[in-house]
Amino acid sequence: MKSKFTPAIIVHGGGGRIRAEELPQRLDGCKDAALAGWGIIQQGGSALDAAEAAVIMLEDNPLFNAGTGSTLNSLGQVEMDAAVMEGETLRAGAVAAVQGIKNPIKLARRVMEDGRHLFYAAEGALLFARAIGFAQCDPEALIVETERARWQEKHGTVGCVALDLEGKIAVATSTGGIFNKLPGRVGDSPLIGCGTYANDCGGVSCTGQGEAIIRIVMAKTALDLLKERAEPQAAAHQAIALLAQKTGGAAGLIIIDRQGKVGHARNTERMPVSFILSDGQVHLDS
Ligand code: GLY
Repeated sequence: MKSKFTPAIIVHGGGGRIRAEELPQRLDGCKDAALAGWGIIQQGGSALDAAEAAVIMLEDNPLFNAGTGSTLNSLGQVEMDAAVMEGETLRAGAVAAVQGIKNPIKLARRVMEDGRHLFYAAEGALLFARAIGFAQCDPEALIVETERARWQEKHGTVGCVALDLEGKIAVATSTGGIFNKLPGRVGDSPLIGCGTYANDCGGVSCTGQGEAIIRIVMAKTALDLLKERAEPQAAAHQAIALLAQKTGGAAGLIIIDRQGKVGHARNTERMPVSFILSDGQVHLDS
């Protein structure tokens, strides 16, 4: 399909400490997710469909801290956050502290499409899901044995930013949050502007310490820096430098601009990333 826009997609699998033996599998997971989204864009599908599809793949992959395989809170339960946002319309949808939802990113999209409210939390999100006929699952089904056995710190979040052939940008971010969090704790991922943001300049998805990311409204800050500095890579680095300077926190982010240029930066130990540019080549980084 001919287009005056240069499509692109970038996916992250979460920032944090990753055991060396797990890194190749996580990079593979990011690559598969990026390819799933890219296939949708290549067929003329929307950035929103692409970003959602990429994040669903990561939520369903137990290696990542989102959906199945989410980290456990202090009660040994899975409580998840997710958000989607469209850059052109500024439409967004988010859910926080939800249990028993296999793909929180799908529910966040339904919140956006329903349009009555932008953000539902906990029991209210489940009431919304029930009201629209959205399937729920046994909360225990999302706990993988390695998580239960390890019961140790697992950082990470998953996210995708996509630019489609019509020049539209969308972002999707999903997470189990941080290990051993208190029940009801909400991180940056579902907070519009903090862990997830898209506008007519670009889109950003963040990962890392939510309490630090929220304090500098990192996703929107990165897009403001993009406006000033024009280069996504420079904006990504500057946002992470600002986070470190102002909060001492650790995080990572991925970014795409309207021209299809991508950037990613982190001050976490690792952040598996996969991106595909207009030539169709898959790039991996960590
Ligand atoms: N960045 C994920 C969280 O803090 O919940």
